[in-house]
Amino acid sequence: MISEEIQRVAAAAGRSLGVKIPVQLDHPDRPDHGDYATNWPLLAFSRLKKQRPELTNPLDLAKLLTLKLPPIKGVTRVTAAPPGFVNFWLAPDYLLAQAAAILDEEKFRQQLAKIGHGKTVVIDYSAPNIAKSFGIGHLRSTNIGQAIYNLYRLLGWRTIGDNHLGDWGTQFGRLIYMIKSKKVPLDKLTVAKLEELYVEFHHRVAKNPRLEEEGRRWFRRLEEGDREAKRIWQACVRVSRAEFDRIYRLLGVKIDYALGESYYYFQGWMDQVLTDARRRRLLQKSRGALVMKLPGLEVPAMLVKSDGATTYLLRDLATIKFRVQKWHPDLIVYEVGGEQRLHFQQVFLAAEQLGYISRRQLVHLGHGLIRSRRGKFSTRQGRTLHLEEVINEGLRRARQLVKRSGQNLSPAEKEAVAQAVAIGGIKFNDLKQEIQRDIVFDWEKILAIEGYSAPYLQYTYARGRSILTRGDVVKTARLPARLNGEELALLRTYYQFPEVLISAASQFAPHFLAQYLFQLAQKFNLFYQKHRVLGLADQKRTQFRLFLTQVTTVILRLGLETLGIQPLEKM
Ligand code: ARG
Repeated sequence: MISEEIQRVAAAAGRSLGVKIPVQLDHPDRPDHGDYATNWPLLAFSRLKKQRPELTNPLDLAKLLTLKLPPIKGVTRVTAAPPGFVNFWLAPDYLLAQAAAILDEEKFRQQLAKIGHGKTVVIDYSAPNIAKSFGIGHLRSTNIGQAIYNLYRLLGWRTIGDNHLGDWGTQFGRLIYMIKSKKVPLDKLTVAKLEELYVEFHHRVAKNPRLEEEGRRWFRRLEEGDREAKRIWQACVRVSRAEFDRIYRLLGVKIDYALGESYYYFQGWMDQVLTDARRRRLLQKSRGALVMKLPGLEVPAMLVKSDGATTYLLRDLATIKFRVQKWHPDLIVYEVGGEQRLHFQQVFLAAEQLGYISRRQLVHLGHGLIRSRRGKFSTRQGRTLHLEEVINEGLRRARQLVKRSGQNLSPAEKEAVAQAVAIGGIKFNDLKQEIQRDIVFDWEKILAIEGYSAPYLQYTYARGRSILTRGDVVKTARLPARLNGEELALLRTYYQFPEVLISAASQFAPHFLAQYLFQLAQKFNLFYQKHRVLGLADQKRTQFRLFLTQVTTVILRLGLETLGIQPLEKM
């Protein structure tokens, strides 16, 4: 409402001056700059100064805007601030009403759910590869993808999570060849064994390049429906999926679908794509391969290799065709590492050329890498770390932590806390900063009780809950005659929650939510350090402070759950 009002006035002021610049409202970093601020006067001035010499500085423009603004409900004060900002202060009773609206949780959720009502998003995430172990890279995709899924769901979108498992492709030909030539019994297969076979194949190929042909031959047989090849492939899928499921259980992640790449082979979708491409005359032969030239891209998209094998890219196109037909999504989001940027550029352009969907409805998030503090993420022997080892290390450390600090907990409670802290810590580490950036994997920071970490948020939540178990449940409160600085700081944070959820979703930036929760927790802890909540002589004050505690815990719980992190009642 506030932003609409300001938009209107600015648009009118702009018209009379001859500029058209939309108003962007931000939350200023400094509390003495109000609750909202806009740099509209700065922008308008730089646009206008040539044509309108009578305008001497942006501050005048800011003053002009403040004068033109009619009273806005909920806003108590509007000021022009140098060099050319307008700052807006929200009224405490408005802030209180916004906070109370969050406490009516069911209604609050309904309001949020109106935002995306009727829209559908498919989120393609996790997607580990069969016959390889679940790497630390797929962990990022899993955690970020799940957070985005939860955000959209909270905002009322129909959300479809699809785990696009890497369970088809030339690499299976190599594995089948190795399993055959080494006569590995299928019931003895493990993921570790499969990885070993894969490495051995590469050693062998280095000595005898002709072996590649064997791998290709077996994949061709698989794609031609050979029974034996299929049986071996199935065994590989079975052991891998059992391992992945174990990891998903540890992480507490459940993905709606896991159709996998093979689905598009078995259901004939790849053939349909080739037919579509032929019909539209998009297909070309290039040295035996079938490719599609794409506008603006040098590298053509290869759909079928010269040996007849289908490609990863063709399967992604088939997947789009399928998803569009089945779910009619408004948006498809790919939570896949940044190294696949070119691949997705090709996929999106090709899908548009094929008439499946508009490129604007396709988003590749391209997350950054995970590095260890010392550099590359690997074990001492140089091989990449497996996720399970990482999780176990986290559990070990979290148990130590709980042993030291969780005095009033039973052994079972301690174990539950350790798990929530370890898993929460690992997830938060993936979500706490812009996802495109590389992240550092540092246990000290991940498990820090004081710091920008999951345990800090979980601890703050537990602290709030423990206060609430000792006080009455309050759903509303009256404003005290005078608010102290810490109370006001909290009130000035709550109303931002829905805005944060919306921008975190629309910009695919879960770190907006992470940062917001951290700020809220800091403000709450400061409040708690300085002021008593319970047992004050002024009962109304106790009521009001219980109310603040209540709103804080509701936001922390909803926020943490949205990030996929378990809030803790006791810690
Ligand atoms: N399995 C792939 C990999 O590990 C990721 C798949 C991502 N999703 C997709 N639709 N291509 O590289």
